[in-house]
Amino acid sequence: MTEDPDVVSRRIARESLDRDDPTGWFENLYAAAADGDAVVPWDRGTAHQLLTDWINEAEPDGTGKTALVVGAGTGWDAELVVDRGYDTTGFDISPSAIETAHRNHPDSKAHYLVADLFAPPADWHRAFDLVVEIYTVQALPIALQPQAIKQVTELVAPGGTLLVIAAARADDVPDEQVQGPPWPLTRAAIQSFTGPDLHLIQLDQSPSPADPSVLRWRAEYLRD
Ligand SMILES: C[S@@+](CC[C@H](N)C(=O)[O-])C[C@H]1O[C@@H](n2cnc3c(N)ncnc32)[C@H](O)[C@@H]1O
Repeated sequence: MTEDPDVVSRRIARESLDRDDPTGWFENLYAAAADGDAVVPWDRGTAHQLLTDWINEAEPDGTGKTALVVGAGTGWDAELVVDRGYDTTGFDISPSAIETAHRNHPDSKAHYLVADLFAPPADWHRAFDLVVEIYTVQALPIALQPQAIKQVTELVAPGGTLLVIAAARADDVPDEQVQGPPWPLTRAAIQSFTGPDLHLIQLDQSPSPADPSVLRWRAEYLRD
């Protein structure tokens, strides 16, 4: 009998984290999933509901504007963003995720490419009118999150919007008690996506439809 794909997914993550390789498991997981040997637990086959809600409420017009989807995975969120008219780029550290994004959306106008949030192309610095970050920071160990958050914020252009969607953690739950991945974000972590010229303009918390005990943040920021 073949192994349960969920078990395989968890083992792939654990092996990489135990080797002190906090991002290597993403490629291993997407590659195994492409071969049918694992499932990618967050791959919904559609855009995230909270991103869809934001798009429906804000009705952004992306004509003549640029958007960047961080840790874009197999592309479903980037497809929603490109449909609003943004010149959209989705990037991921995993080459197999990007290959799957190309396969899933062969006629897409979005650009999918391999890049590392910790070492992005220099010309991405404060370059995007809309930056969408869903579940990438929380997929990284807590010690790496402050740097990852800083990297995300440095992608937002003057006048640009940052949208962050993440699982929520109560502030009184200590780091040591969180057995990630994922490592959900505290309110303090969500507030730390700000800076002197990058302001938190809306913060919502809502239960996950799949499991109401899991709370998610939807945070919107605006750069002066
Ligand atoms: C939990 S998944 C979320 C994927 C997607 N945003 C979603 O919500 O379906 C985290 C994603 O971030 C990517 N990732 C992790 N570390 C990264 C890094 N340093 N640079 C770029 N992508 C990264 C992973 O490969 C993975 O696709």
